[in-house]
Amino acid sequence: MNIEELKSVAAAIVDSQKGVLAADESNPTIGKRFEPFKVESTEETRRRYREMLFTADGIERTIGGVILFDETLRQITQDGIPFPKLLASRGIIPGIKVDKGAKALALRPGDRVTEGLDGLRERLEEYQQLGAQFAKWRAVIDINDHDIPSAFGIRANAHALARYAALCQEVGLVPIVEPEVLMDGAHGIERCEAVTARALEAVFAELDAHHVLFEGMLLKPNMVIAGKQCAQQASVLEVAAATLRCLRRYVPAAVPGIVFLSGGQSAEDATDHLNAMNAMEPQPWQVSFSYGRALQAPVLAAWQGQEDNVSAAQNALLNRCHLNGLARAGKYARTMEGTP
Ligand code: 13P
Repeated sequence: MNIEELKSVAAAIVDSQKGVLAADESNPTIGKRFEPFKVESTEETRRRYREMLFTADGIERTIGGVILFDETLRQITQDGIPFPKLLASRGIIPGIKVDKGAKALALRPGDRVTEGLDGLRERLEEYQQLGAQFAKWRAVIDINDHDIPSAFGIRANAHALARYAALCQEVGLVPIVEPEVLMDGAHGIERCEAVTARALEAVFAELDAHHVLFEGMLLKPNMVIAGKQCAQQASVLEVAAATLRCLRRYVPAAVPGIVFLSGGQSAEDATDHLNAMNAMEPQPWQVSFSYGRALQAPVLAAWQGQEDNVSAAQNALLNRCHLNGLARAGKYARTMEGTP
């Protein structure tokens, strides 16, 4: 493990205005994203869509890293340039999603655990040869009205995240550690905060036990937010305050950056929340984004699979990147929406 290299890649991904574009949807997930627009999901439509994202002029100002799916890491542009090479030539660090998805945890009804550890060392070595410099693993933590997540479920996911992170650092890839407490449900913001706290506490205990270097990783958490079906939604300031309170209690200052997932928030809400956090007092880590839907939803709506819409779709991406770049400095205002 080259400590200086890990530190410098992690720092570059969250440099100044920058964050991460999560474009690592698995094939079934990107199929779901295409469906409302009647875009058929084929290897070629997925390739064309991702090429459109990665060639949008100017995204490198606010995108420090892009997370790719296995298929995308191996694809090439129309002109024959491998996607990782294209991104690197623009100063954007290519990364790779390496988990194999959340499955039911055996004999533990209601809890899920993420699979993908078997053979991971060899896969990481191959991904690195293909140009990846960081990786991502997502643990999914469900909340129900009763006893989910269980303490055991949280521990199982924390353990898998730490095994993954240690393997990444061993081969020289920066791990993005993603324990995602889902927004699905009618729970209030307090329940989300309590579960997020337990998850982060368990994750950092396991990372430490596995000798993961905090300085050479990034954390990708959920924001602390009420469940989507909860009648009582918290204000932007409440979300920002609860999220920072929770992170400050459980995330070591040695971690260089927090890159939030959007998790089903609207693009505008995700930007607003990020902005509010950066407008509060300075934090020990960079407070940034690693959005999938909150960056891409407006792009898909503008594109609709039509070649004629490519430039409008690229402008939609650039606009979201720009606004999130401002939110990194606490300089975004909701009134900026609609004025790209
Ligand atoms: P969302 O921002 O759409 O939640 O996606 C981020 C991600 O990478 C989920 O794993």
